[in-house]
Amino acid sequence: MFKPPWIRSVRRALLAAGATAALAAGLLTATAAPSQAAAQGPCDIYAAGGTPCVAAHSTTRALYAAYNGPLYQVRRASDNATLNIGLLSAGGYANAAAQDTFCANTSCVITVIYDQSGKGNNLSQAPAGGAAGGPDNLANAFEAPVTVGGHEAYGVYVAPGTGYRNNNTNGTATGDQAEGEYAIFDGTHFNGGCCFDYGNAETSSTDTGNGHMEAIYFGNSKSWGYGSGNGPWIMADLENGLFSGVNQHLNSGDPTVTNRFLTAMVKGGPNQWAIRGGDAQSGSLSTYYSGVRPNVSGYNPMHKEGAIILGIGGDNSKGAQGTFYEGVMTSGYPSDATENAVQANITAAGYNSGSTSTGSLSPGSRISLQATTSPCCTTDYLRHDDADTKVVISTISSSSSATDKSDATWIVRAGLANSSCLSFESANAPGQYLRHYNYELYLNTDNGGSTFAQDATFCPTTGNSGVGHSFQSVNYPTKYIRHYNYTAYIASNGGSNAWDSTSSWTQDTSWLTASPWN
Ligand code: AHR
Ligand code: AHR
Repeated sequence: MFKPPWIRSVRRALLAAGATAALAAGLLTATAAPSQAAAQGPCDIYAAGGTPCVAAHSTTRALYAAYNGPLYQVRRASDNATLNIGLLSAGGYANAAAQDTFCANTSCVITVIYDQSGKGNNLSQAPAGGAAGGPDNLANAFEAPVTVGGHEAYGVYVAPGTGYRNNNTNGTATGDQAEGEYAIFDGTHFNGGCCFDYGNAETSSTDTGNGHMEAIYFGNSKSWGYGSGNGPWIMADLENGLFSGVNQHLNSGDPTVTNRFLTAMVKGGPNQWAIRGGDAQSGSLSTYYSGVRPNVSGYNPMHKEGAIILGIGGDNSKGAQGTFYEGVMTSGYPSDATENAVQANITAAGYNSGSTSTGSLSPGSRISLQATTSPCCTTDYLRHDDADTKVVISTISSSSSATDKSDATWIVRAGLANSSCLSFESANAPGQYLRHYNYELYLNTDNGGSTFAQDATFCPTTGNSGVGHSFQSVNYPTKYIRHYNYTAYIASNGGSNAWDSTSSWTQDTSWLTASPWN
C-alpha cells in the first residue's frame, strides 16, 4: 500500500535507531493474508432464510459470496477525479490500497456507497431536507481505518453535518410491510445529536409524521427514548421518536453498549418489532426488545416510505456523529435464527481496529505527546483542559488521575484536510480535534467544514531541535505546534505573536511520540 513519505522516513529512522521490531511493525500495515472469498455472505444467509437483502452497503467487504462489483466511490480534492473501490476478489475484502494510491498527497471523500443487492439502492450525498442546512457533507475517506480479516479497509466516518441518502429506492419496505436491518458501527464514536441512523426513512427528506421511518439509531440522545445506564443505546428511529422498547421514554431492557465494533439490529412488521445487538468481534446477539409497537399513537400500523438514510435523521437532522462499516435492509421479518447466523458471519469476518500499534504516528494509533524543552517541561504532555477548550501542557505521571491521563491521550487520524498529514482526535472526547484558531490551540468538534479541516491538520516533520517530531500547520506552514507559558499555539520562529518568540522555539516545537497515557 502507499505510504506517505514521512511514514517511510520515520520507519527508516526507527530501524536505524535500532527500535524494537514490534514498534517498527506498528508503523507498517499488517501484511495482507491471501484474500479468501467467504462461502456465504450475510445476504446469502438472509436469502436462505426467506428474507433477502434489498439493500446491502459496505465499504469494507462483499456482503454476498458472489459479489464482485464496486463497494464505494471516492473523489479526490486535487482534480475532483473519482474512482470506484472494488474488491480484492469476488466475495472478499475492499481493495483499500487503490484508495491509498489514488488519494496520495491530496484528500478524498466518499461520494457513493454502492448497493450490492442488485436493486440499485446506492447511497450518495444527502440533499437538504426539512431540518436546517444541507446538502450534507461527504465523509473523509481516511478517517475510519480498520482491518477486516487482516486486510486494510476504511469505514464511513460521519462527523456532524455528514449524511447519505437515497430517496428513490427499489424493493424496500413501505407502509406496514416487514423488514430487517443490521449495521456494524463503531460503538465508541457517537453523540447525543439527532440522529445517527441507518435504514428506512421518508422519501421527501421531511418529517411526514409518526411511523414514517424505521431506521437503526445509535447514540446517547435522551431527547426521546433511552435505555439503562448512560448510553449509547441502539434504538429504533420511528420518526418523532427514538424508541428503546414499548414505552416512549425509558425501557431498561435496552442496555448501554460500547463495543468497539457493534452489531446493531432493528426489525419491524405488523404490530411487531425488535431491537437486537452484540459485539461484532465475538459472541452472540442479545435481544433488547421484542414485542408490540410502542404505546404511543401513530406507530401502528407503520407508514414506512422506503427511502434509505445513513448518518442523519428522517428530516435530514444532521447533528449526530458515528462510524458505519456495513449494513443491510431486507424484505420480510428475519427470524432470530437467521440473524444469529448473520452475527456468526460478522464475527468470522474479523473486524479489528486499524490501530495496529500504540505510541506511533500511524493513523488509528493512540499516543501521548511529550514536551522536550529542558529543564522546564520534560515530564509535561500536550493535553486538553477540562475547565475550557484550551490545550496546554502539564506534568502527567503514573499517579495522575484517569481524567488527566485521558486528557493527554490522542488518537492519530489521517489529516482531515490532507491525508498525507495528521489530525489528533481526543481520546476522551470523540469527534473533537486539536485545532488552531487565532493561532492558539483548542479542542473543538469537527464541524465538517474545510476551515476546520485545515486548522486541524498538521504535517509531521523531524523535530525542529533535532529531537522527536514537529507538527507543521497545513494552512500556516511556517508555524508549528508549540507550547509557550504552558499553553499550546501554532508559532513561527519569530513573528508578531508573543508565542512566536525565538527563545526555545526549536525545543518548544519538538515533541516525543510516547506511549498513550490511556
Ligand atoms: O425521530 C427522531 C427524529 O425526529 C427524526 O430522525 C427526525 O426526522 C425528526 O426530527
Ligand atoms: O489560527 C489561525 C486562524 O484563525 C484559523 O485558520 C482560523 O480558524 C482563525 O481565524
